[in-house]
Amino acid sequence: MNVALGVGGGIAAYKAAELARALMERGFAVEVIMTRAAAEFIQPLTFAALTGRKVHTQLFSAASSEDTLSSAIEHIRLAQENQIFVIAPATADLIAKFAHGLADDLLTTAYLAFTGAVVVAPAMNTNMWNHPATRANVEILRARGHIIVEPDEGLLACGMVGPGRLAEPQAIAEAVAAASRALAPRRDLEGEVILITAGPTQEPIDGVRYISNRSSGKMGYALAEEAAARGARVILISGPVALAPPHGVETLPVRTAVEMRQAVMDRLAESTMVIKAAAVADYHIPNPPQQKIKKTSARMSLDLDPTPDILAEVGRKKEDRLLVGFAAETGNMVEEARRKMRDKNCDMVVGNVVSNAGTGFEADENEVVMVTRTGETIPVSRAHKREIARRILDQMMHLRLALHAQH
Ligand code: CTP
Repeated sequence: MNVALGVGGGIAAYKAAELARALMERGFAVEVIMTRAAAEFIQPLTFAALTGRKVHTQLFSAASSEDTLSSAIEHIRLAQENQIFVIAPATADLIAKFAHGLADDLLTTAYLAFTGAVVVAPAMNTNMWNHPATRANVEILRARGHIIVEPDEGLLACGMVGPGRLAEPQAIAEAVAAASRALAPRRDLEGEVILITAGPTQEPIDGVRYISNRSSGKMGYALAEEAAARGARVILISGPVALAPPHGVETLPVRTAVEMRQAVMDRLAESTMVIKAAAVADYHIPNPPQQKIKKTSARMSLDLDPTPDILAEVGRKKEDRLLVGFAAETGNMVEEARRKMRDKNCDMVVGNVVSNAGTGFEADENEVVMVTRTGETIPVSRAHKREIARRILDQMMHLRLALHAQH
């Protein structure tokens, strides 16, 4: 993985040489960008010798016109070719410029053009570090998702004792390594074929009316996206929703519970895992009229039959597939989830409360409890549905190992 190392102008700039070496020892390719002030503290040649690569110091080089053009777009190339940008030492001035988007040299323009992971290791005098302006700027960077490697406390070059000393190069290198692990996509679901149902079903009353529910499909789609990103082949059987089919996922649209059942049974044989996130209607009208029912002044009632319980049927045919159901509850969630797990022969049931505002049906967030065949009850506090999807898939992989170990 390629790392751009931005070196700011501070006494600690010499420690950036040690950091460059520590990063290379961990297998990173390092490209150094120095501010003009940094070059007053340490020679660019030191970094060139350590990294074996050209060190970048200015936005425009005063060489030939051809060189000028390539140097004018150097900050874009630096931003595109590196996956992590670590700034050490990050001075108060650099942190302020990053926070407010000022770009007046190569390092700050490269930062603005950069879209990858950013690690910031500040170093400055204690009063500067504690100043409300710096505190506010650091918080802006943190809120942007940047990793801040807090400075150490100790005797500073200015003679003061307190926080402000650049963190140890090994600690900064470890933060970069953690960022790279977070960037590298996990492929732990490679080889799995995951059948996922999502969204509501629509049960026609006549040619223009139907019975349905408030499911948006967001939870099932988040599961499909997360599973595909982790290397699974995903078959998504979706009721009518307003979401775009996820990239890289085979998406099969269906309307009714009967159609959903048929699609699931058709594709069950090839699947290794089944997740039933759909909110399937429990009742339908077996043979609804094609025409629109005319209004009369008499009372009207609908004669409803139960729909096929798809999850229960898959439970009967599950063999060694991992089977996960959902339980949308407004009452006693854990007990109900356990009951459904037993009744429908699932390995896990994800219970979600649908009566809270902001979570459950329609919302972008969810709050769930996972109950497993191995007896665990795992609450997952409120989070974005993609994060909930990640936790569900993690738990399924644990469960698969635990169930294998039992046999
Ligand atoms: N489900 C299904 N087919 C149905 C009804 C439900 O496959 N006809 C699945 C859902 O996809 C979900 C699970 O069963 O994974 C639980 O659905 P839910 O409606 O909450 O449970 P029910 O069994 O219908 O129980 P109740 O209505 O009593 O809560």
